[in-house]
Amino acid sequence: MIVGVPTETFPGERRIATIPAVVPALAKSGLDVLIEAGAGESAGFTDAAFTDKGAQIAAGRARLFADADVILQVRTLGANPVNGRADLELLRPGQTVIGFSEPLGEPQSARDLAARGATAFSMELIPRITRAQSMDALSSMATIAGYKSVLLAAEMLPRMFPMMMTAAGTITPARVFIVGAGVAGLQAIASARRLGAKVEAYDVRPAVKEQVESLGATFVDLPLDTDESEDMGGYAKAQDEAFYARQREMMARVVSASDVVVTTALIPGRPAPTLVTDEMVASMMPGSVIVDLAAERGGNVEPSRPDETVVAHGVTVLGPTNLPATVPFHASQMYAKNVSALLLHLVDDGALRIDLEDEITQGTLVSKDGEVVHPRVRELLDSPA
Ligand code: NAI
Repeated sequence: MIVGVPTETFPGERRIATIPAVVPALAKSGLDVLIEAGAGESAGFTDAAFTDKGAQIAAGRARLFADADVILQVRTLGANPVNGRADLELLRPGQTVIGFSEPLGEPQSARDLAARGATAFSMELIPRITRAQSMDALSSMATIAGYKSVLLAAEMLPRMFPMMMTAAGTITPARVFIVGAGVAGLQAIASARRLGAKVEAYDVRPAVKEQVESLGATFVDLPLDTDESEDMGGYAKAQDEAFYARQREMMARVVSASDVVVTTALIPGRPAPTLVTDEMVASMMPGSVIVDLAAERGGNVEPSRPDETVVAHGVTVLGPTNLPATVPFHASQMYAKNVSALLLHLVDDGALRIDLEDEITQGTLVSKDGEVVHPRVRELLDSPA
């Protein structure tokens, strides 16, 4: 069976879905790897590095799609809405595609993939169960986003992060506030601490308090009553607007005293809650920096805009939407491990075996035999199973 890895075509995307080091593991399971010429260059992986590990190079994209049985991508159609469309006509019925594809945000793209007869698996839908941890690409990419958000803030801030006692006087440490202490938030805390900042963090899920403290940050206790902050999967539950209004009110003091605020608060399948208003931004010291990692989902910060740098009331507000692509070497390495773990899970004796009784297979399979099969995606398309 041939596994094809094309060049990513989303603007600014520098990752690749596999790396040379993963090729031997795929070969061991009977899979031949075919890479589009130059596909790894933006991430630091040359064609020669791939061929050294046993991969073949395809002369062009059309050739790659024609020869491959399975296509591995970082961004499949739904997650690459404009340029991903050109791949549709290269796909043939029965071909399998695995990648991020935003099936819950862009269900129409899932329908388009199904209409081409593609068997599509979505990396966003990997269930968060112990058995699937090695496939959890959302977590690995969130780790990178959390790390990089802090570096961006440090770069923009007119102050230094660490405390310093110098002959020229004492420098006080930067005060960093992380809102949302999930995967990205915890990594942001760890990165800001390593740079020497004084870090505070808040999350609606009280269970994370211990993790925040173990990283050397202070958990901000907001006396907000909620019966249920967490769902079965460990994700935050949506709260009503009155709750968010109280949260903003209670967080205002911490925000205004911070030099850097990083927001990461998301609710799966919903727009991000607004947690920092324009008025709260205005209360910060001029020169302060906010990084809104939820900007792509509507934003946690009122003045943030996706992929723009906005200066509001003297505060720099960043809304980066693809930080993993700015660290393409390690992002590709982590993603390649995740996606190959899923692929190997689906392969038996060198061929794909789709076992619909299996929780991981069932959870990630979006389309098959010309139809969207994932119940949540079907619901969004108004065609429940
Ligand atoms: P996420 O990216 O959906 O959300 C980020 C964070 O924002 C979450 O911690 C959430 O509680 C928080 N948040 C939501 N609304 C908020 C609000 N109003 N104020 C403050 N914070 C708010 O979540 P992520 O980071 O992908 O994962 C969250 C949790 O999922 C993890 O901490 C863990 O419990 C669970 N998880 C389980 C895994 C496994 O079992 N394999 C793997 C990864 C995560």
